[in-house]
Amino acid sequence: MKHPEFPLVDDLIYLNHAAVAPWPKRTSAAVIQFAEQNCQFGSHYYLDWLKKENEIRRQLQALLNAPSANDIALVKNTSEALSFVAFGLPWQAGDNIVSSNEEFPSNRLPWQALAERGVEFREADLHSAQTPEDALFALVDGNTRLLTISSIQFASGLRMDLERIGEFCRQRDILFCIDAIQSLGAVQFDVQAYHADFVMADGHKWLFGPEGLGVFYTNPAARDRLKLSQYGWHMMKDTHNYENLPWEIHPGARRFECGSPNMLGIHALSASLSLLLETGMPTVEALVLERSDYLRDAISANDELILLSQRHSTLKSGIVNFKHRHIDNEVLYKHLQKNGVVCALRGGGIRFSPHFYNTLAELDRALALATAISG
Ligand SMILES: Cc1ncc(COP(=O)(O)O)c(C=O)c1O
Repeated sequence: MKHPEFPLVDDLIYLNHAAVAPWPKRTSAAVIQFAEQNCQFGSHYYLDWLKKENEIRRQLQALLNAPSANDIALVKNTSEALSFVAFGLPWQAGDNIVSSNEEFPSNRLPWQALAERGVEFREADLHSAQTPEDALFALVDGNTRLLTISSIQFASGLRMDLERIGEFCRQRDILFCIDAIQSLGAVQFDVQAYHADFVMADGHKWLFGPEGLGVFYTNPAARDRLKLSQYGWHMMKDTHNYENLPWEIHPGARRFECGSPNMLGIHALSASLSLLLETGMPTVEALVLERSDYLRDAISANDELILLSQRHSTLKSGIVNFKHRHIDNEVLYKHLQKNGVVCALRGGGIRFSPHFYNTLAELDRALALATAISG
């Protein structure tokens, strides 16, 4: 049976939450309502909008288990926040940054761009040691200033032990930066347990929001180490000091928000977050992992398909990657898309990324379509 919040058209099987998710019904309603209000009243209810802005910070604080809503900045996207960190820290020639060779370009390009300042970006092969974390640690030395990693790898779905990495970094005074876009909204997250310094994610994947609004968490000590690169009225401590008076930088993460907030995005994403928070992230995570487990087991048992994601890793994610034994990936991808299975071509195969509301019957149908192509 269809989840009432996801009235997707019949026959569409949506398994692409690691790319761009559909909006829940309540998000669509919030956007329509905001549009109508703007049309009829302009910004007459701006104070309510500011309340919504405060509410979304609290919602994001809850999702991240951040100590304070002041640690939350609203940004354009993950890439912007990663660039804030890369170009905000005071690097010295000879410093190095440790990461993996599986990162999405957003968690690679900003660090590589620091080469001109003599900063080295080291990319671990996560399969070169007994655990992916050990592979990262092997590249760390006395000149490592920061470790940056995707909490879950976008293509393979490999999920990192963030608690272990965070503890390792803490003991060595290495900054810890997490690209959390493939985790937030799919699995539980805890910046405090991970001793995270910087965490960023966008709203349009597992969080069910629109594109164009992301979250950037900073812990206060790490935040103070970032030189700012964007300036404007909204990052002043006294936000409404418009009269050319002396001013101070906002003590909280608001300092990364130079101008007017994305109010439309805030209304939309806040509605989406309310669904996740009402459902409860422990429940959402259990349902996501039940679905990805189901896929992994079914693919392993299917003679026509080859599972590319790890089957028995202790830390599981919502991303499942596979290919067909005889059919080219692109042909299979087109076949699935044509038959209403929304998925992605990634990591040398097909990527399915189900969310908590997908039914097991949908997964069966998607796999039957993937298998039937040879018949
Ligand atoms: C791991 C990872 N990081 C970053 C991004 C890009 O995020 P954004 O568009 O918010 O900058 C993606 C998008 O697929 C991703 O999978």
